[in-house]
Amino acid sequence: MIPVSEPVLRGREAEYVAECLNTGWISSSGRFIEAFEGAWAAYCGRRFGVAVGNGTVALQLAVAALGIGPGDEVILPTFTIISCALAVVYSGATPVLVDADPETWCLDVRQVEAKITSRTRAIMPVHIYGHPVEMDPLLRLAQRRGLAVIEDAAEAHGAEYLASTEDGNAWLRCGSFGDVSTFSFYANKLVTTGEGGMVMTDDERLAQRLRSLRNLAFEPGRRFLHRELGFNFRLTNVQAAIGLAQVEQIDETVARKRAIGHRYAAALSVVRGVRLQPPGEWARSVYWMNGLVLDRATGLDAPALAERLRSLGAETRPFFLGMHRQPALLERGLFGGERYPVADEIAEQGLYLPSGVGLTDDQVDAVARATELALG
Ligand SMILES: Cc1ncc(COP(=O)(O)O)c(C=O)c1O
Repeated sequence: MIPVSEPVLRGREAEYVAECLNTGWISSSGRFIEAFEGAWAAYCGRRFGVAVGNGTVALQLAVAALGIGPGDEVILPTFTIISCALAVVYSGATPVLVDADPETWCLDVRQVEAKITSRTRAIMPVHIYGHPVEMDPLLRLAQRRGLAVIEDAAEAHGAEYLASTEDGNAWLRCGSFGDVSTFSFYANKLVTTGEGGMVMTDDERLAQRLRSLRNLAFEPGRRFLHRELGFNFRLTNVQAAIGLAQVEQIDETVARKRAIGHRYAAALSVVRGVRLQPPGEWARSVYWMNGLVLDRATGLDAPALAERLRSLGAETRPFFLGMHRQPALLERGLFGGERYPVADEIAEQGLYLPSGVGLTDDQVDAVARATELALG
C-alpha cells in the first residue's frame, strides 16, 4: 500500500536530537528553539517566529494575542480544518464562514467583503493543500476596512504568491503575509517536528505578547505574578532540534514536492472526469497534498473512488468537510441555514492521493495509473 504521507528524516535530525539528550536540554529551553524560530522566520521572510506545540494552538495563540474575544467576528473559509474555527470559538468570538473558490479550493476572496460587519475584527485566509490564497485583494480589503489578517500557512511551507509590493511584483512566501501567520509541523508537513507549530509576525510588540502568552504570561519582573491568562503552548528543544534539521533541507523538500505535483498533473491531465487544483498564474504551489475532484458524470463519489484505489494499493484521504457541516459547531447555534455549495461539492467529490516527499517517480506513476483504472 502506498501511504498518503510519511516523514523523511534524512538530514541532521538524529545528530541534533542526540545533542539535546546528551546535554539534558530536553524541555522548552535550549539552543534549538531560537535557532529553529530564527531559521524558519528568515526562510519565510518574517522578523519573528514563536514556536508552539502544534498548528492548532498556533492559531489559538494568534487570535488571543490580537486581543480578539467575545463580541468579535472572524471571517474564515468553511473548507478548512476545525482548528481554524476552534481558535475563534475558544477566544469567545464568532466564526463567520466564506465558501471555497471552485478553482483553488481556498476561500473565495470575492465573497469576503459581503461578510464584513461592524463586529468583524479579522480575516483568516488558509492556503489549502499547499496552494496560496489570492492575497493581494484580501490584504487590500483588510487594510481598507481596518481588519487584522491571520494567515494560516499550516499546509503551505515554501509556497509562493506573486504579490504587488512597493517595488513592483515579487514572489513572496506563504507565512509572510498579514499581521500574524501560523504554521503546523505535524509529521505530514514539508517541515516536521513530529508535533509542532509556529506563529510569526513582523511586529516586535506582538512577538513579545505571543511569547508571553505561550508561556503562561509570567510577569517579567515577578515570575509568579500573572496579569492576564496565558497558555502553556511551548515546544520542546528536542522537537525544535528536528525542526532545524528539517529547515536545512527545505529547498530539496520543496523541489521534490513540486516535481511530484507536476508529475501527477501531467499524468492525470489525460484522465477524464477528474479536476486537479490548477495553480493560478500568481501561485507557486508546493502540492502539500495532491487532491482531485471527481465529476459527477463519472457516477462515482470520493468514498467509492477511495475504495477502488485502496484495492489497487493506493491510500487516500477524503477532503475537509465544511465547518457548516460540523455538529460540534452547529449545536452552538452557529451557521444555521447557511449554504456553501462549492465546499459541499468538493467535500463529496474530492480526495487526495499519496503525496509524501519520499514517493518515487514509479510510485507516482503507479498511483496515477491506478486512478485511471479506477475510473475506467
Ligand atoms: C490548514 C490547517 N490549519 C491548522 C492545522 C492544525 O495543525 P496541527 O495538526 O499541527 O494542530 C492544520 C493541520 O493539518 C491545517 O491543515
